[in-house]
Amino acid sequence: MAQRPYIVGNWKMNGSRAMLAEARAIDRAAARHPQVDIALAPPFPLIGLLREAVTGIGVGGQDCHTEAKGAHTGDVSAAMLADIGADFVILGHSERRRDHGESDALVQAKADAALAAGLGVIICVGETLDERDVGRALDVVGGQVDRSLPQGEAALEAAMVGKLAIAYEPVWAIGTGRVADVGDVIAMHAAVRARLVHAYGEAGARPRILYGGSVNAGNAAALLAAPEVGGALVGGASLTADAFLPIVAAAG
Ligand code: G3P
Repeated sequence: MAQRPYIVGNWKMNGSRAMLAEARAIDRAAARHPQVDIALAPPFPLIGLLREAVTGIGVGGQDCHTEAKGAHTGDVSAAMLADIGADFVILGHSERRRDHGESDALVQAKADAALAAGLGVIICVGETLDERDVGRALDVVGGQVDRSLPQGEAALEAAMVGKLAIAYEPVWAIGTGRVADVGDVIAMHAAVRARLVHAYGEAGARPRILYGGSVNAGNAAALLAAPEVGGALVGGASLTADAFLPIVAAAG
């Protein structure tokens, strides 16, 4: 892998103060993997606590609003995430697209807002099983990438300095124990890279493209060794240090 691998745990709507012990254990182990970028994205109430609990890993949110502040009950802005010490935000996860009807255009607007607030961004894309079965996976995901990428100078800069990443997460592989074939992952990541280069020119070669969907200790090494797989976005296996650290170890 030419790029520094990026292993990110997405806690989704899981976690508690007690679970910060898992984050501390992951943080302590991070020193043994200086060549890997490691991060956790807990639910909003834990972000500030996690920030104070760790020193060697990144901390991120799982969503942000498009605006910096205002009358949006229940929402959290990118500026607030940055203020509390978050480094990045995950955007456009398929669970948000499903549960909150998020469109590519909304994801793009959120990505622009996040970059303006100084956050890194991980944009999630992925096809459903029906879309894969009818042979539309590459088109669907390519379209999501085209329509979700942030625009303008800030986006180019973020791409150049590694503050922008894409996570390819086939919807049917999330939380199912069914991981995508490495061959299909290679084809998809190559297609995503082509879209990034089309959008950003030379800078499009820089963003890491993560794979997500049932990554675990048993399959991580094969996935991470594949061309253009720059890391992993891990759900269930990020909830304990015991499950997460072997994935980090597989990265380097
Ligand atoms: O964002 C991570 C994700 O959706 C994958 O979840 O539980 O299949 O690793 P999981």
